[in-house]
Amino acid sequence: MCGIIAYVGPRPCAQLLIDGLRKLEYRGYDSAGVAVHDGSSIVVRRAAGKLSTLQDLVDREPVAGTVGIGHTRWATHGPPSERNAHPHVAGRVAVVHNGIIENHVELKQRLEAQGRVFTSDTDTEIVAHLVDMAMARGLVLVEAVRDALRELRGAYAIAVLAKDDPETIVVAKYASPLVVAIADGAVLAASDVPAILAHTREVLFLEDGEMATLTRAGAKLETVAGEAVERAPTTIRWSLVQAERGGFKHFMLKEIHEQPRAIEDTLRGRVQLESGTCNADEIGISEQDANAVQRVVLLACGTSFHAAMYGRYLLEQLARVPAVVELASEFRYREPVIAKGDLVIAVSQSGETADTLAALKEAKRHGARVLAVVNVQGSAIARAADGVLYTHAGPEIGVASTKCFTAQLAAMALVAIHMGRARNALTAERATALLGELVKVPEKMRHALEQDASVQLIARDLVSSQNALFLGRGVSCPVALEGALKLKEISYVHAEGYAGGEMKHGPLALVDRTMPVVCLLPDDPSLEKMLSNVQEVRARDGRVLAVVNDAHTAASLAQWTITVPRTEPEFSPLITTIPLQLLSYHVADQRGTDVDQPRNLAKTVTVE
Ligand code: M6R
Repeated sequence: MCGIIAYVGPRPCAQLLIDGLRKLEYRGYDSAGVAVHDGSSIVVRRAAGKLSTLQDLVDREPVAGTVGIGHTRWATHGPPSERNAHPHVAGRVAVVHNGIIENHVELKQRLEAQGRVFTSDTDTEIVAHLVDMAMARGLVLVEAVRDALRELRGAYAIAVLAKDDPETIVVAKYASPLVVAIADGAVLAASDVPAILAHTREVLFLEDGEMATLTRAGAKLETVAGEAVERAPTTIRWSLVQAERGGFKHFMLKEIHEQPRAIEDTLRGRVQLESGTCNADEIGISEQDANAVQRVVLLACGTSFHAAMYGRYLLEQLARVPAVVELASEFRYREPVIAKGDLVIAVSQSGETADTLAALKEAKRHGARVLAVVNVQGSAIARAADGVLYTHAGPEIGVASTKCFTAQLAAMALVAIHMGRARNALTAERATALLGELVKVPEKMRHALEQDASVQLIARDLVSSQNALFLGRGVSCPVALEGALKLKEISYVHAEGYAGGEMKHGPLALVDRTMPVVCLLPDDPSLEKMLSNVQEVRARDGRVLAVVNDAHTAASLAQWTITVPRTEPEFSPLITTIPLQLLSYHVADQRGTDVDQPRNLAKTVTVE
């Protein structure tokens, strides 16, 4: 979604702001802009479309100055256009904003009645007017921002620059991420860490209801209520190199190939093979707590929801604990029944997904203990939870989640085995065998990745298909759903995933010779039943792509076969997911879509 960067320092900043925004492109956006204080006034450059258009504009019409703010916008209020792009200016004030001001209609009516003229359709412009009006009443910038914030309902991360205060930027946040960093005599702020990694890895995460005044002397943190805030910096583990494409055509392809390492890093230091146990401190649940759990409630959205589904299978199977999985967006608006003894697990790559964060808070409000499984250090979900199990996948830039998904699967496996041992549902022997196999999975993923060229050829046959079905049973069911989601989000091919057993209850009607059906057929107890589904598809002339462990499985039935290494049935999703990701990637690439930034989508969904 939208991205923010702000800079106060010694260097000319227009290009620096654009370079920072480039690191946020992956969040998804449709227009961009910068506002720079040139010493006497605020100069704004904005453009609809990609950053290259803004870059061309700034090259043609350069802006001088060392204090500025920048933004990439993902349209919510008003279409993507130059007039709706940020920064928004009212009088002496320029503002960039992420999030949604929920009471914008009433505020706008009031401000218009007071003679204020709006030049955009956005909710953001209201903030600029409110701050400008407060400054007109004589307040200095920080006090004017504080005054404006008191009027706002909703989610925001903002950065504000004022003509009358050329050396200062004020930032604030509520329910939208914002970090502040101090580096080489400069102070920066951004909505997301990659924007400032080129400057420093030491950052201060702002909490909801906090603001910061940035000057060359440093960053003064305080609450909107005016209390001083002392915050120690957090050192970010990610490096800039990790956030680069590294020779791959797209981030997504690079990230698919990074999966073995992502899983190794996620397992490292957490597995004790000799005793068949997991490190409870690292997992974030003590053995005592694991034993006391009556039910697990998993909350997530999108791809993370599929990882949570997999978690449910494993928790029931290995830990014998009742588990339910819920779409966070539904959970937060129901009246969920949370009992004492429920453990809630919130799964999120970004750790900032608004629905998942709100669902987590709802669960906490009902007294649940919450474990977060997240990839982004210091993210809102990580901070709001009682315990955190980090997936160490490194920065994921492609909007389509790949390495974070399989890292989430690995994390789910750890939680299930840990709880299984703590609850005596798993013997030490069985846990040792499972963990012993789990640590071998990365190597098997490497072998699965060797299928890249064959999958690329299969993608050629499928590139003009308008639809596709994905089928799996048991732990392969979430893989089927994920395979379909991946294909539709980056190639815009309509795809649906189903549990194999559901075929006869409706989707079979879609099958004819134009319908490719991707069938997950790893060696596991549901293989025979899945082969019956394959027969049903073939009987209707459907074309089958079989993902198997043994090349002979379904050989006479499948039009295409991809063979991947065998593992314990519980862990097959970590491996069978790979050809599905590669298939989506190659179909999308051959169709010429914007693989890393698919249309209409954002990497971090910070609005409902
Ligand atoms: O950051 P999160 O894992 O909470 O994000 C949830 C979904 O928005 C995300 O998984 C989305 O579905 C992915 N882009 C799919 O590839």
